Amino acid sequence: MKDLPTPLILLDVKKLKRNISKVSRIAMKNGKKIWPMIKTHKSTYIARLQRDYGSDGFLCGTIDEAEVLTEKGLTKNIMIAYPIADRENLRRVMNIIEEGVRVIIRVDSKECAEFINDHLRKRGLDIDYVVKVDVGMKRLGVPPEKIGKFVSSVEKYKRLNFVGVATHPGQAYASTSPDGVKEVAETTAGILREVKKEIERLGYDPEIVGTGSTPTLRYDLEMDVYTHLFPGNYVYYDRFQVEFMGSATFNDCALTVLATVISIPEHSKGKLAVINVGSKYLGLDRAAHGGGALKNYGYIIEHPKARIFALSEEVGKVDISEDQSVKIGEKVTIIPNHACVVGNATSYLVAHVNGVVKGLVEVDMRNGVRVPRIIFNVQLSK
Ligand SMILES: Cc1ncc(COP(=O)(O)O)c(C=O)c1O
Repeated sequence: MKDLPTPLILLDVKKLKRNISKVSRIAMKNGKKIWPMIKTHKSTYIARLQRDYGSDGFLCGTIDEAEVLTEKGLTKNIMIAYPIADRENLRRVMNIIEEGVRVIIRVDSKECAEFINDHLRKRGLDIDYVVKVDVGMKRLGVPPEKIGKFVSSVEKYKRLNFVGVATHPGQAYASTSPDGVKEVAETTAGILREVKKEIERLGYDPEIVGTGSTPTLRYDLEMDVYTHLFPGNYVYYDRFQVEFMGSATFNDCALTVLATVISIPEHSKGKLAVINVGSKYLGLDRAAHGGGALKNYGYIIEHPKARIFALSEEVGKVDISEDQSVKIGEKVTIIPNHACVVGNATSYLVAHVNGVVKGLVEVDMRNGVRVPRIIFNVQLSK
């Protein structure tokens, strides 16, 4: 592997398979479905692995992902993670339904429900929906105590069929310790138990009660209330999951970035190394969801005491004052802070097992891999 050019994104496929199989084994034992969030990896190779380990559905962050999964025949169940309020996106979703795939959307406003209902009626289609519940992240979602009223108010939109509720407890990422994560997991499950009771009281029998986040996953897998789980990051894990969330160890981290030390500039008197990897590979996240708990950008496996303290786009600055063994020309392997950003920075990952290269994994669901029809035919004049 040390003969490879840099920068490169490496994927340890043995760790990847171990991460996927471990979660799916517990889920199966506990009677839960894992419908993985695709946005972490955006790769049909990994989606296929997840399917082979038992996932019969996926959560998509983009319509591009949903289209590619459909074209490759990878699933008959797609949930779209975020509300659709754009006509072209809805048209693309309706095309997918016409391909025979069950698409479940997430709704959190009457305006959106009405818009979707109108367009489905014109095309003679129906769709299943879950209500997105806000369990404290304060991004999307209906407040838990208003779910019953919301579902009743959407009843009049006959093209929409209510099948349950789902959430993403992203506030878990604001915790800086495993105890904080546990609390978020328990609070979220408690809220969803109450929501489920309320829905049942109204006469519904929800097929789906779901949550999705890697920090809380180890608890979610054991919670009676959930039918479906939508984790994303668990395929790779990363420094943030290890150092703050307690979800994994460094040895579980499947995704790394290979870089070369290109300079130890004279002005630094041996205290600074510059690597040929910057924010375009490592991302600027020092925590997911905008927190800032980590003080630097990635963990260098060969030099744990060296700290990547600043990133330009294509180069990074590493403080080596506590590790003078770093050499110009040396290759270093970095575990990123947040793997979801890194995994789709390039069009392929280099797959390896214990450092022996095995092949390429295409990142074939990256943003922009599908050009929507409405702009596809526009020709740019010379
Ligand atoms: C709506 C939704 N569900 C699930 C996930 C997966 O979370 P994680 O990457 O922590 O597994 C995300 C990630 O941002 C998300 O936005």
